[in-house]
Amino acid sequence: KNIAIIMGGYSSEYKISLKSGSVVYKYTDKEKFNLFCIHIFKEKWVYVTENKEEFPVNKHDFSVEINNQKITFDCIFNAIHGSPGEDGLMQSYFELLNIPQTSCDAYQSALTFNKRDLLSVLKPYGIKAAASYYLNLGDAIDEESIVAKVGLPCFVKANKAGSSFGIMKVYKKEDLKAAIENAYKEDDEIIIEGFLDGTEVSVGVLKYKGVTKVLPVTEIVSENDFFDYEAKYAGKSQEITPARITKTQEQKVSDLAKKAYDVLKMKGFSRSEFIFIDDEPFMLEMNTNPGLTEESILPQQAKVAGISLPELFENAINEALT
Ligand code: DAL
Ligand code: MG
Repeated sequence: KNIAIIMGGYSSEYKISLKSGSVVYKYTDKEKFNLFCIHIFKEKWVYVTENKEEFPVNKHDFSVEINNQKITFDCIFNAIHGSPGEDGLMQSYFELLNIPQTSCDAYQSALTFNKRDLLSVLKPYGIKAAASYYLNLGDAIDEESIVAKVGLPCFVKANKAGSSFGIMKVYKKEDLKAAIENAYKEDDEIIIEGFLDGTEVSVGVLKYKGVTKVLPVTEIVSENDFFDYEAKYAGKSQEITPARITKTQEQKVSDLAKKAYDVLKMKGFSRSEFIFIDDEPFMLEMNTNPGLTEESILPQQAKVAGISLPELFENAINEALT
């Protein structure tokens, strides 16, 4: 089977995606699958060989021509974080082309990538979230109303982004404007959330051998003020799996992450973030193309669950193909 590992993307997260993609390439069994690394950038979609030779992708049918031979793909391994690989665009394209893909479908991708909409949809299912305030580009910024709604400190976030791009923690009303301008660099929608002062955890859920499986919960201890880009990627945090939480907390948060995955009819990987206020988990967001580098959280959780990277990636392809 020919597998296209797609990586890169149009967002600030492209570098992390290139890392995730190269880890997928490194650990996926090359005896079982023919792997092709495909870089998706605004300027070009190209198949990149091990010798860094590039062959353009024909966007009409996602094929590649190499020495007069046309290669088509049986499955897409999606390792793009952010747009267009995690927000439903690539998903729609492959759905139309009828090529199976490891990530969830277009609707679920678009919904989960939109923090505001995801949290609103999950609320009636008993999944709680922080107090929130929304802004669209061009809306008047009324600091009094924002503070009245969410309190201080608060988090100003780009609504559709990942890896903490466009996120700032704000302590003073006077700093809201700058944080909002910063978030607009990533997205034209903003979500401002009240600060939840509790233990942060990350829960991986995936389809494994045909059933929804919850991985061991990870506790996140940031050395920075919050789990920002530096904490995530420059080692300024500790990620502890299994999390040092009570059995009750573990059960509750695992159940909620699974419930979200199942009610949304997800497929493939997901990693949901929560903060505990006492025993109650509050959801921050869900990622449908979580980081897949050796240091990333979901691969660490899989390892604790006894699933190696080759097994994790082979399962993802098999799930997509069935
Ligand atoms: N958005 C990053 C890659 C993650 O969720 O792991
Ligand atoms: Mg995220």
